Amino acid sequence: MSAVPHHIAIVMDGNGRWATKRFLPRVAGHKQGVDSLRRCVKACAERGVSVLTVFAFSSENWSRPAEEVSGLMDLFAKALIREVPQLNSDGVQLHFAGERAGLSEKVANGIDQAERATASNSRLILNVCFNYGGRWDIVQAAAQLASQGQPITEVNLNRFMALSHVRDPDLVIRTGGEQRVSNFLLWQSAYSEFYFTDDLWPEFDEASLDQAIAVYHQRERRFGKTSEQLKQRGSPR
Ligand code: IPE
Ligand code: IPE
Ligand code: MG
Repeated sequence: MSAVPHHIAIVMDGNGRWATKRFLPRVAGHKQGVDSLRRCVKACAERGVSVLTVFAFSSENWSRPAEEVSGLMDLFAKALIREVPQLNSDGVQLHFAGERAGLSEKVANGIDQAERATASNSRLILNVCFNYGGRWDIVQAAAQLASQGQPITEVNLNRFMALSHVRDPDLVIRTGGEQRVSNFLLWQSAYSEFYFTDDLWPEFDEASLDQAIAVYHQRERRFGKTSEQLKQRGSPR
C-alpha cells in the first residue's frame, strides 16, 4: 500500500447547490459544509495525512449577496469557538491563510485564539484559507520581499507565502463539479495532482476521500522528467 499524500488541499464547493436541491437557504448548505469538514479532518488524521488545506472563503466571495456573506462570517466565527476543543484533543494544529485586514474584530480574534490554542499540536496541520486568493498571496509575498530589499528568487518569495510552513500540496481536490482553480493555491499547486468530483461538499465523506487518494496513487508524478527516468531511479518523492 502506497503512502498517503503528505498534503491534501480541497476547494470545498457545492454547499449552495446542496441546500437549494433541498429547498433550504444557502447558509444551511454552509452549515452542513462545516460538518463535512469536521468529518474530513478526522478522516485525514486517521489516514496519516500530515497537512490538510481547505478553501473556506475566497477574496471574490465578498461579491455574494450581503445576507450570505454575513451568514458565512457568523458561521465561521461560531465554528472557530465550537470546534477548537475537539481539534485540540485530536492533535490538530490550525493555521489561517488570507487577508486579515478586511475581517471583523470577532472573526480576527477568533482566528488568533484558535491558532494560539492549537499551536503545539502536531498530528495534522489544518490550514483554513479564509478571505484568501492565490493572487493576493503572491502579491503580499512580493510586497514583503520588496520591502526587505531581498533578491527576487523562488525560494525567497516562497518564504513570505501564506503556506510557507508546509510543503506544496500533493493532491488538490475540488468538489461540486466545476473544473477550475478559482484563485486557490496558484503558486503552491504548480506540481499538484488535481482531482475533480461531482460530489457536493456536504456529501463528501470518508469513501469519497479514499477514492480521491486511490486515483492519486494511479498518477505518475514526473516533475518534468520522462517516465523512463522515473523507472530507472524510482519515484522522485
Ligand atoms: C462553497 O460552496 C463554499 C463557499 C464558496 C463559501 P458554494 O457556496 O460556492 O456552493 P455552490 O457552488 O453555490 O453550490
Ligand atoms: C471557490 O468556490 C471558493 C471556495 C470554495 C471558498 P466558488 O463557488 O466561489 O468558485 P466559483 O465562483 O464557482 O469559481
Ligand atoms: Mg461554488
